[in-house]
Formats: sequence, structure tokens, C-alpha cells
Amino acid sequence: MSVQSVKRRLAPSDIAAFKGVRPIVSLTAYTTPIAKLLDPHVDFMLVGDSLGMVLYGLDSTVGVTMDMMIAHGQAVMRGSRDACVVVDLPFGSYQESKEQAFRSAARILKETGCSAVKLEGGAEMAETVDFLTQRGIPVLGHVGLMPQLVNTTGGYRSLGRNDKEANKIRRDAKAIDDAGAFAIVIEGTVEPVAREISTGLRAPTIGIGASPACDGQILVTDDIIGTFNDFKPRFVKHFANLAPLMSEAFANYAAEVKARTFPSAEHTFQVKNKTA
Ligand code: KIV
Repeated sequence: MSVQSVKRRLAPSDIAAFKGVRPIVSLTAYTTPIAKLLDPHVDFMLVGDSLGMVLYGLDSTVGVTMDMMIAHGQAVMRGSRDACVVVDLPFGSYQESKEQAFRSAARILKETGCSAVKLEGGAEMAETVDFLTQRGIPVLGHVGLMPQLVNTTGGYRSLGRNDKEANKIRRDAKAIDDAGAFAIVIEGTVEPVAREISTGLRAPTIGIGASPACDGQILVTDDIIGTFNDFKPRFVKHFANLAPLMSEAFANYAAEVKARTFPSAEHTFQVKNKTA
């Protein structure tokens, strides 16, 4: 096999190069089976710290740990081959200093094999983004609504409706772009602001609740298949509704076990008859 014929995963630089060419497609993945299903369809998968709420039933993403992110990052890498995999830096693993951020990000890259990390933050994190990218760690930025800040911002409402909020998001996005992020997630931001930012930046913007004006889109996979129904923000669309199908399967299983109709002969091992 020639070296040229070996297909490699999309890299963060490939994602950046899609800007202006075609929309970038992304979804979250936390497990091997979901990563396998997503791999042919997305440009990058995000092992998001949303897994704290979606998989572990936490109230916010604040309680998510490095060990959780690494275990799920490894699972997603095992299930994917072509898509770029990005793993979130959890709350408390990077905000203290750029050195702390480097240690955490390097550990994630080494222990999972993923290609990049994501961190939340605007102008205050620009120095850190520059420090990481200069040292071989591609960074996906995240501005606008930042779920890790829920305890200081007080909620998950959309932003950018007044000048103060809009200017802050503009400044944050520009600072992270100048610092070298390969792409920037914009969350929960009104369309005119997201559009203006997307047009002005070098890096592609990846919207979640930030309008079709962004250069790509990301959603939480469990939201689009209807398996996480604690709340449904306006920007989520159910592309399938699997929860009722799953409930029906569980109910049918329980009924068959109780009625002793499962397991039937076809699901039962027998000793083979000895032939003379
Ligand atoms: O944690 C997450 O899943 C995210 C998103 C952008 C979906 O940050």
C-alpha cells in the first residue's frame, strides 16, 4: 500500500479550510457505538462536557472531571476513524493559568489520541489559546453562552440582544480568533451578531443556537434523537424521536420475561444430541 493511499482522519486544519467552501457538520459523541454511527456523517465529533448532564444526570457541566472526559474521549476514538475528534476541557482544568491549561490539554491529547481540545472563554482566555496553539495543541474556542459559567451568569438564555452583550461577544470572538483557534463555537447568540462575527473572522464559526449564518453547526446528539428530554431549547430539532421506541422495547421485554415467552427456543442453548 502506498503512503498516499492511507486515508487519515480529518485534522483541525481541514476543518478550518472548509470556511467559505461548505458548511461544517458536527455533533457530540460520548460513546463508542454512537461514534461509529456518526463517523461517516460529521466533519468533527465533540466529546462535550454536556455529557455530565446528558449521561450522568448532573445539573450543570461544572461537576465534570478530567477522568470523565478522558474515558469518554478514548471510547469515541475507538469508535471513529475518519472524523476529527475534539474533547472538551472540563471546568477547573484550564482557567487558573495557561500552564495548567497546557498540562490538562496535553494529558487529554496523549491519553485519548484526539486531535484538539475545546475551551470556553473570550478575551480573558486569549493568552491561553495562543499558548496552547503555539505549543502544538489545536484549540476550538467557545463564546456567547458559556455553560461552564452558569454560576456567575445565572442561566442559559440567549445573548446579544443589547449593545453591551453584543459587543462582548464580538470582542470575545475576535480575541480567540486572533489567538489562533482553528474554529470557534458560538452558542445561544442572536442572528445579526453571529452573522457579523462569522463574516469578519478568519476561523470558521460553529453555531449552536446561533443561526444559519455560522460556517457550521453543532448540536447535542441526544437532543436531535430525542433521548435527552429534560428540556428542549428553541434551537433543537428532533430529527428522530427514539425515546418512545426505546420505552416500547423495554416494556415488551419486561412483559415477555414475566410471561415466560422470552427466552424462547431460538435464544436457548441446548446440548447437541450425540450421533453414533
Ligand atoms: O458540551 C457540549 O456538548 C458543547 C456543545 C457546543 C454542544 O459544548
